[in-house]
Amino acid sequence: MITKDIQLACQRLSQGHPVAIPTETVYGLAAPIDQEAAIRAVFSLKNRPLNHPLIVHLAPSWDVRQWVAEVPLLAEQFIAAFWPGPLTLVLPAKPGAINPLITGGQDTVAIRCPSHPVAQALLTQLGVPVVAPSANPFGKISPTTAAHVEESFPASDLLILDGGRCEAGIESTLIHVTADNQYQILRHGLINAQQIAEIAHQAALSGESSLRAPGKLDQHYQPEKPLLRFDNPSDLAAFYKAQLRPCYVIASQKPDGLPNTHFYALPNDPTEAAFELYYQIRRADQSDAALLLIEMPNDTPSWAGVRERILKASQKPFDMDKKKS
Ligand code: TXA
Ligand code: MG
Repeated sequence: MITKDIQLACQRLSQGHPVAIPTETVYGLAAPIDQEAAIRAVFSLKNRPLNHPLIVHLAPSWDVRQWVAEVPLLAEQFIAAFWPGPLTLVLPAKPGAINPLITGGQDTVAIRCPSHPVAQALLTQLGVPVVAPSANPFGKISPTTAAHVEESFPASDLLILDGGRCEAGIESTLIHVTADNQYQILRHGLINAQQIAEIAHQAALSGESSLRAPGKLDQHYQPEKPLLRFDNPSDLAAFYKAQLRPCYVIASQKPDGLPNTHFYALPNDPTEAAFELYYQIRRADQSDAALLLIEMPNDTPSWAGVRERILKASQKPFDMDKKKS
């Protein structure tokens, strides 16, 4: 059921039931951090393995030190620059303050302070932080509207708090602050590597993280239909031309012969493209097309968040042919 009643959402949460909530990035499936049954229900609704840790969401006026053992100087600088907003920090968890179910038994906790006014009002009214993974079945595409949440969990009686369409459109940037002066980007988002490096006065550590992070999954954010990615519009157009099956195209240029109804021109600004990405992939998924084709944006820092989502949601046309044979 979709509602705008924040008080009703708080009641359900306090009674130990998950509630879908809006944030500025994507909708989250929330449970209070002190309600173990509700947290377990979040994992089972999403069909998410228990070793995938959850993000804790705070209201702006709360002190992160209530849940975190130590806030390195660099983390303080990130908090001052980007909170409230679409940035999640992985920090040492305070023993006893965070249920191990939330961290997957690790000694770090991921924490963020959403800027969405409805999320903030809910947290303030509830008085307890909530965990909130994206409100989609594990591996599937994240929802950016209340209706998309409802479509994602058709069989459940989940309460969905409607806060309109999410402004950012992709999940938060996830950073592990490994020491007072070192950090690693575990998941790219709208707050990009360049903006982060400016605050830190240094670049992120590169290479594989030892943490169990989302970047390690090759497939994620997936629509129901095959989504094929192309590095440039001419490869995409050539593939389309040889296709007998109906296609839906998300690209900078419409291939010759493709009906307008089956084309979406992805904006050439990364912020606008992020806002539209999941929304348009869902539209494409619901069309009568058998195949979805998407053009990869340029490989520059400001596009990293959008590129990462497309890479994990899609396959190369060559790989699809391999799987068939
Ligand atoms: O924008 C967002 O972050 C959204 C909204 C709802 O807040 N939430 C979200 O949650 O994307 P989720 O669970 O779909 O993705 C969080 C990712 C997980 O893939 C998990 O691996 C990683 O954060 N994560 C959580 N805790 C972690 C930790 N302690 N160390 C490393 N990675 C962690
Ligand atoms: Mg997710």
